[in-house]
Amino acid sequence: MLIKKSADIKYSEITPKNVYLNRRDFIATAGVAGIGLAAAKLVPEMLSPELTAFGGNKLQFNKSDLSTMDEEITPFKDVTSYNNFYEFGTKKDEPAAKAKDFQTSPWTVSIGGNVKHPQKLDIASLMKLSPLEERIYRMRCVEGWSMVIPWIGIPLNAVIKAVEPKPKANFVAFETLLDPRQMPGQRVRGLSWPYTEGLRLDEAMNPLTILAVGLHGERLPNQDGAPIRLVVPWKYGFKGIKSIVKISFVEKQPPTAWNTFAPKEYGFYSNVNPNVDHPRWAQSSERRIGEFRRRKTLMFNGYAEQVAQMYSGMDLQKNY
Ligand code: MTE
Repeated sequence: MLIKKSADIKYSEITPKNVYLNRRDFIATAGVAGIGLAAAKLVPEMLSPELTAFGGNKLQFNKSDLSTMDEEITPFKDVTSYNNFYEFGTKKDEPAAKAKDFQTSPWTVSIGGNVKHPQKLDIASLMKLSPLEERIYRMRCVEGWSMVIPWIGIPLNAVIKAVEPKPKANFVAFETLLDPRQMPGQRVRGLSWPYTEGLRLDEAMNPLTILAVGLHGERLPNQDGAPIRLVVPWKYGFKGIKSIVKISFVEKQPPTAWNTFAPKEYGFYSNVNPNVDHPRWAQSSERRIGEFRRRKTLMFNGYAEQVAQMYSGMDLQKNY
């Protein structure tokens, strides 16, 4: 999943294998993190994004029984240094470096379209719609690697219930912030900005679908999509749109960033399906970050029991 900055950059120039080893040195920031921890107990909403980025902002949450319990969790430093966030560059280590000063507070998410109660909510109000839960989920990237991430968030269906969709709301469309001043990737050609994603309403309502505000016990680091992002564990990671500012309930299937960019390579559904190869590489196996061996990729990323019924009767070779 590489962007062509111009017509002559080839898709085959996929991420160098060693890039993920090039990690930010979080230890150097330990002093700042310590200050953040003390302050977080008092006024978490008032902490600056800088402190949040350094992991000084703990969240209170319940552990969810929808978590995947039998697999080793990917370390914080891998989850926060090996990222895809093209607004901050196309290399895996660029988001951690370039999103450091990204302003994520104040932040408002507009929720509207075919709903009875359109609203503009800040992150604190969104977090009040449902108790925060930790959901440990596998994440399978379309590029062939995977992680196991302890997300913290609220079920998307809590937001949907609050706004009450009207009968015409068949799909939910999501948009990332558009701010080329802060996001250098939006100043170059590639994806059409802002980054967009979409789900069918029943996928959005599925209990597994969450809006994440944290990971590994802390507020989301900027490179992981602060302050709020989507996590849909049975789909390829690119469905997990970051830094969301708009959620719209629409009648027709909305355009999505990767599907618009390369429709033959990235479908709207994007369910993890080991039986449907990407046109340029197989999808039957994956490499867990931190491991060398490849493991078999599971249908719906291992969540078939909870989600397969939503696609019964659909040809998943065509609806990839
Ligand atoms: N959201 C935005 N706004 N921009 C992006 O480039 N990349 C997607 C997704 N969400 C992306 C995005 C892709 S390709 C992946 S694999 C996941 O974010 C990666 O999430 P992570 O970096 O937190 O692991």
